[in-house]
Amino acid sequence: MCGIIGYTGRRPAGPIVIEGLRRLEYRGYDSAGIALFDSDHELYVAKATGKLDNLDARVEGQLPPAVAGIGHTRWATHGAPTDGNAHPHLDPTGRVAVVHNGIVENFEALRRRFEAQGDRFISDTDTEVIAHLLAERLALGDDLAEAMRVTIPLLEGAQAIVAVSVDDPGRLVAARVGNAGGIVVGYGDGEHFVASDLAALLPHTRRVVFLDPGQIADVRLDGVSYLDAAGHALEKPIELQPFDPVAAVKGRYKHFMLKEIHEQPDVALDGVRGRYSTDPARIELPELAIDRTRLERIQRVVLVGMGTSMHSATVGRHYIERFARIPAEVDNAAEFRYREPVLDDRTLVISVAQSGETVDTLWAMEEARRAGCLQVAICNTPGSQATRVADATVFMRAGPEIAVASTKTMVGSMVALHALALHLGHLRGTLTPDQLSEQVTGALHIPSAIGDALLLEEAIEELAGRYAEYEDFLFLGRGLAYPMALEGALKLKEVSYIHAEGYAAGEMKHGPIALIDEHMPVVAVALDDDLHDKMRSNIEQVKARRGRVIALVTEGDTSLDGVADDVLALPRVLPALQPLVAVIPMQLLSYYIAVRRGADVDQPRNLAKTVTVE
Ligand code: AGP
Repeated sequence: MCGIIGYTGRRPAGPIVIEGLRRLEYRGYDSAGIALFDSDHELYVAKATGKLDNLDARVEGQLPPAVAGIGHTRWATHGAPTDGNAHPHLDPTGRVAVVHNGIVENFEALRRRFEAQGDRFISDTDTEVIAHLLAERLALGDDLAEAMRVTIPLLEGAQAIVAVSVDDPGRLVAARVGNAGGIVVGYGDGEHFVASDLAALLPHTRRVVFLDPGQIADVRLDGVSYLDAAGHALEKPIELQPFDPVAAVKGRYKHFMLKEIHEQPDVALDGVRGRYSTDPARIELPELAIDRTRLERIQRVVLVGMGTSMHSATVGRHYIERFARIPAEVDNAAEFRYREPVLDDRTLVISVAQSGETVDTLWAMEEARRAGCLQVAICNTPGSQATRVADATVFMRAGPEIAVASTKTMVGSMVALHALALHLGHLRGTLTPDQLSEQVTGALHIPSAIGDALLLEEAIEELAGRYAEYEDFLFLGRGLAYPMALEGALKLKEVSYIHAEGYAAGEMKHGPIALIDEHMPVVAVALDDDLHDKMRSNIEQVKARRGRVIALVTEGDTSLDGVADDVLALPRVLPALQPLVAVIPMQLLSYYIAVRRGADVDQPRNLAKTVTVE
């Protein structure tokens, strides 16, 4: 949560910082602010509540020709979204400016200490104490990097911080404390950057260094040095990132969400490329560089994630049980940590995370690390913390996902989980060559099947027009369609603000059926599989209570014609792979209903792309 950008170099810093914020706005958009060194090496600070456009309008024609600066786009934790609470925050003398992501859990005690000695605070944020603490150390003669190093142990909680000081214009000091979102340092030509994530750096450089927790980057015009918490110098090799900057722009699409929905055939293709081959059927996962005997010893699998990633993990649980025959469970990462899970070194923990920085998921991984579990991350973000903690990462290969609502990374993660489960099944001898061959062939067909599912777009746009005014929706599915029902409801809630619930269809008669009437449309996933007849009965139960049903069926299935109010036919794929096509109409329906209702599709209210607070 919150986007951070910093720049030092020979080009005017102002426009670079503002443009960087634009790429980070999806991380938080309550308010935004910048601090730039003007030509007298004093700080020029500007802030504005609301979207970045407000800040842009405020600074238009006024940006000083600065050589360095920092910027922040905020997702409020402490203090309402106001100009005063927007970052950067300054110390009382105005010499230090700080941008911050995370929570200073002991800020009240620190604030009281400063207030007792006469300092005045002008915001309600926890962040402002960091500026006071840094200024205190600078006044004692520390330089900015040392001041940061000494300040960090005084802060409770996980943080990512970037600070500048007028005593050292052109220098940025960045620190990562725990798992509150990343800090990445970018190396340009005669310039350096810091950012909360890679997306902000892509137009400028692909040469980057990620900070690990406890590390500090001292970024100057002529070079970057790194320190650990004890003040020892660190050597950190520069990595070359493969992300394509073009992927982070909207192109011909009105919204990133729509663009990302349409990228899914390519995401599925990238997901199978080089991993699946036929004649004979094979799965190659070279990134799973884990000793074979460790993989063979696994007795249990626990999958964790949040939101959409948890729904993918639920699909993954089916895959692990079905193909690798290992007992598997799935848990909401935020709950997992606090229920004292029973774990050991024969448990494989699979964490699913688009960002690789979701704090709930990182804490679950920490719990698994302490218990000595083997860990595999399913992740979309190279260099992210999840990829560093895990023993191995199977990447989603989805490219940057900018819309706050996840779409293409769900497809990327389900493809990766399918490959992982097949790999484990093959290794452990639980898959026959015929089963492997069937799954591999089926997976290779998925990119074109997703392409066919996207052909429903026009019909779904029309459907959205007829359903956009309803205020409550129910989504039902069984088996592998159950996580799709959960995902359909989540997508609709987050982008259109319509109340929606996802249920296992068998659960409906145990309570939710009381809600059914003509005012609550039901989206029923009734694809052709072993559970189809039971799903059909559930649909009949809804119809008997005057409910309106939108049914997702497999092409050629006419059994719900005249029963459901609307029927959308999806291409036939293997039953195990149905979630990969069933998710497409869910995403399109949410998108077009949200557009109809005039919602802010790419940046829904109250949300942030990467959730780095508990
Ligand atoms: C999805 O549309 C959401 N915005 C959200 O639930 C998301 O999936 C969740 O926060 C997990 O993020 P992660 O995959 O980056 O860990």
